[in-house]
Amino acid sequence: MPDDSHLPHALRGLRIPAVASPMFIVSNPELVIAQCKAGIVGSFPALNAREAEGEPPMLEVWLKQITEALDRHNQDNPDRPAAPYAVNQIVHRSNARLERDIEICHRWKVPIWITSLGARVEVNQAAHDSGGIALHDVINDRFARKAIEKGADGLIAVAAGAGGHAGPQSPFALIREIRAWFDGPLLLSGAIATGDALLAALAVGADLGYIGSPFIATTEANAVEDYKAMIVASGAEDIVTSSLFTGVSGNYLRPSITRAGLDPEALPEGDVSTMNFKDQGSKPKAWKEIWGAGQGIGAVREVTGAADLIARIEGEYHAAYARLRARVE
Ligand SMILES: Cc1cc2nc3c(=O)[nH]c(=O)nc-3n(C[C@H](O)[C@H](O)[C@H](O)COP(=O)(O)O)c2cc1C
Repeated sequence: MPDDSHLPHALRGLRIPAVASPMFIVSNPELVIAQCKAGIVGSFPALNAREAEGEPPMLEVWLKQITEALDRHNQDNPDRPAAPYAVNQIVHRSNARLERDIEICHRWKVPIWITSLGARVEVNQAAHDSGGIALHDVINDRFARKAIEKGADGLIAVAAGAGGHAGPQSPFALIREIRAWFDGPLLLSGAIATGDALLAALAVGADLGYIGSPFIATTEANAVEDYKAMIVASGAEDIVTSSLFTGVSGNYLRPSITRAGLDPEALPEGDVSTMNFKDQGSKPKAWKEIWGAGQGIGAVREVTGAADLIARIEGEYHAAYARLRARVE
């Protein structure tokens, strides 16, 4: 267990130093509950909780479900309490729900707030006001400095090879530049799909790994069977980087692009001004038909429960540590 006493309370005492990242459409309460019960932070984008018009906010229903399930688990397992959960807010001008979702998360005292696509003082304040912490995801050192100036408590460095909106930089370069001035909580995102990679994230200077794509191939995830099977069957060479689908560079599964009738080798550039997170989502096609995934999925060999995936990563993490220790000392 690495020394985590320098981290905010919400990020301490995890079974392994990992946060399961929020994934559009894919992350649902079942997955988050399984991740937290298994001892790592689970998360979901607030935008995944959608209600039919005129119905009460689904976000509220989800927060109640998660809070109650984790409370029950903690009462039944005082020796192995669940990790806290996180909610992701897309801080983009097209997200018309942002204010409402912030109010709901504030009321439910969400312990960890993850913000992406824009750093805003008010969101960080709302998190702090209700006793939470705010982590902001960034793809370079400039955005990292801005996020901290605006009051984020910690940073998620999204490096090359990550699923969804990945950055272009090597994790070695990105973590090094941020660590040169920032000694707060720092997470590394991008192709971490094994315990070995998680240990490597700590070795380069991150406090925690941020793991997404492997959780798509879990029984709890809200993904169709074909998507899960494609994750299992694919490797790094099957990941295509394109800005066509959302206007911002992201990583997608090549076979899903081909199946949609497009040539993955000849995709036109996207237009950032068309990015849209209004209630019906950012071009539903982008995530519903063109499936996102990071380069680490070669390590995913089967669809399992989230708890089994976390147990696999934990085993590898400790084995990698023992192997390295023998080699380095
Ligand atoms: C299908 C998919 C959807 C994603 N949706 C979101 C999102 O809604 N908000 C967000 O902050 N990050 C999103 N991400 C990015 C993840 O938070 C994280 O950076 C990434 O999954 C980590 O890389 P990995 O997939 O290689 O583990 C998404 C990633 C994937 C694969």
